[in-house]
Amino acid sequence: MWSILKEDVRVAFERDPAARNLFEVLVSYPGVHALLLHRFAYRLWHRGWRNLARFVSHLSRFLTGIEIHPGATVGRRFFIDHGMGVVIGETSQIGDDVTLYQGVTLGGISLRREKRHPTVEDCVIIGAGAIVLGPVVVGRNSKIGSGSVVVKDVPENSTVVGVPGKVVEGDGVHRDPVEHHIALDHDRLPDPMAKSLGNLAEYIQRLEQRVNDLDAKQGGLEARHREEVEETRRYRN
Ligand SMILES: CC(C)(COP(=O)(O)OP(=O)(O)OC[C@H]1O[C@@H](n2cnc3c(N)ncnc32)[C@H](O)[C@@H]1OP(=O)(O)O)[C@@H](O)C(=O)NCCC(=O)NCCS
Repeated sequence: MWSILKEDVRVAFERDPAARNLFEVLVSYPGVHALLLHRFAYRLWHRGWRNLARFVSHLSRFLTGIEIHPGATVGRRFFIDHGMGVVIGETSQIGDDVTLYQGVTLGGISLRREKRHPTVEDCVIIGAGAIVLGPVVVGRNSKIGSGSVVVKDVPENSTVVGVPGKVVEGDGVHRDPVEHHIALDHDRLPDPMAKSLGNLAEYIQRLEQRVNDLDAKQGGLEARHREEVEETRRYRN
């Protein structure tokens, strides 16, 4: 248990370049506080102390602005950066080395008591304000762009952006977890709209080239036709 808690604290240094020392992380990282309190609430929940578990979770939400249901399963080295507004539902399952930013919701779309929240596999990064709804699976090593709404399964090693979320990159390449987190590339998330406009511009350019070629061909044919008419006239005379 101690090693898991130590990892929970250490991970803040790996994933947040602003983290300077242990004291700072222990006193001013709401994501770390919420995770430590969740580990405690989760144990209470599974030992049958459900009301107390809910109370600890509520207290954690009051202190950190992060709501993690005590029934949610969270893997190792989980990191919530900034944290405010994060909501993680009861039947969510989160793997190892996952990072969430502020405002992320792992929510349900069903009112039945069933698996109704997402499963987030290892090494996934979910950008600020993204919403993942229902019992979907976000495959390992994937990235969800800020503000996306994901309502369908996400294959492994892909990048999803937009509302509803669409896979815009999926190279199928397994990445090293640490490198994967270092290469956040928030500023280089693909823009599907810009990509479509780019494709359209390319298509128009190709059409323009074809029209020019046809124009040139027609000009040539007309010149030849004129020469032939001229030649026939000369021959008749
Ligand atoms: C919008 C909503 C009510 C739709 O439910 P539904 O009628 O069952 O719709 P479906 O799941 O059949 O999806 C229909 C289409 O809408 C899209 N869609 C569903 N929810 C969407 C959303 N929130 N945003 C954008 N598109 C959405 C689906 O991709 C699907 O598109 P497709 O037909 O091209 O494949 C539901 O998805 C939703 O957002 N519920 C809110 C849940 C919530 O906020 N929970 C928070 C718990 S903390």
